[in-house]
Amino acid sequence: MTSCNVLKYLSLGILVLQTTSLVLTMRYSRTLKEDGPRYLPSAAVVSAELLKITVYWSVRAMNQQLKEEIMNKSSETLKLAVPAGIYTLQNNLLYVALSNLDAATYQVTYQLKILTTALFSVSMLGKKLGFYQWLSLLILMAGVTLVQVQVWPEGALCQFTVCGVMAVLMACVSSGFAGVYFEKILKETKQSVWVRNIQLGLFSFVLGLLGMLLYDGESVRQSGMFQGYSAITCVVVVLQALGGLVVAVVIKYADNILKGFATSLSIILSTLISYFLLVDFNPTSAFFGGAVLVIAATFLYNYEVNASSSTAVKV
Ligand code: C5P
Repeated sequence: MTSCNVLKYLSLGILVLQTTSLVLTMRYSRTLKEDGPRYLPSAAVVSAELLKITVYWSVRAMNQQLKEEIMNKSSETLKLAVPAGIYTLQNNLLYVALSNLDAATYQVTYQLKILTTALFSVSMLGKKLGFYQWLSLLILMAGVTLVQVQVWPEGALCQFTVCGVMAVLMACVSSGFAGVYFEKILKETKQSVWVRNIQLGLFSFVLGLLGMLLYDGESVRQSGMFQGYSAITCVVVVLQALGGLVVAVVIKYADNILKGFATSLSIILSTLISYFLLVDFNPTSAFFGGAVLVIAATFLYNYEVNASSSTAVKV
């Protein structure tokens, strides 16, 4: 296996673990009954962006060349304002979604981003999907649905609030568009992925801060940005920041559609975690059938992608 392939599968594996733990902890943190004010999602989004920029900065010391790329090439830097604004909205929407929907419903609905990503990849990047790749997308959707037959408890549909579902659907479109737009910028321009991530992070931080002041300004002025923060909030923030870092690596070494498959594997993982932690969970043949379909779809898609989409991106 080449070092690129190692990074590709390592980053996809970490993404599966990160997605699973983020969904479970974010849902837990939004439904936990606590005294005092609950933490502000808008502030958590800003904190995660700040954490990401700090990591980028410390990994790649801010040298002269990097400064020049970011400060002096304003038109190049400005390109990142678009995905940054969309991701900021999306990151806030996910808190809205997980405050209103249970983790399983949220996860399966959010899988629609695989389709939006595929459609944007075809229309914006001119990516050609072969017959087996389209087929694998269909198999994936069937597999995820089958797994959910097991996961959804009786009457779970009652928890579908219009607000939660709308938030996830908007996040699906946003995820597909922003991910492909970022991939397009990476592949069409010379700047390295580090420069692009720092530019994206800076814009996301500023836009997130503005969003927080506009939406929660009064509350922040009264009780501060970190009101209601607990240990679990910090875990959510760290996991969200880690997600951003891993996604950046996945977009570089794998691609956006494979990223979607990684998150569907995470549905299976979170179901298995529920199985081992909750005694009342008994997987049925529908669950195993669905799991096999999702894994088969992942391999089927990957089998063809190796041959068709190997556009180089500068590190
Ligand atoms: O669900 P989805 O994969 O679209 O989520 C992408 C996440 O990764 C967002 O939270 C976004 O802010 C983050 N991201 C990042 N750096 C990139 C690309 C995405 O931090 N280069």
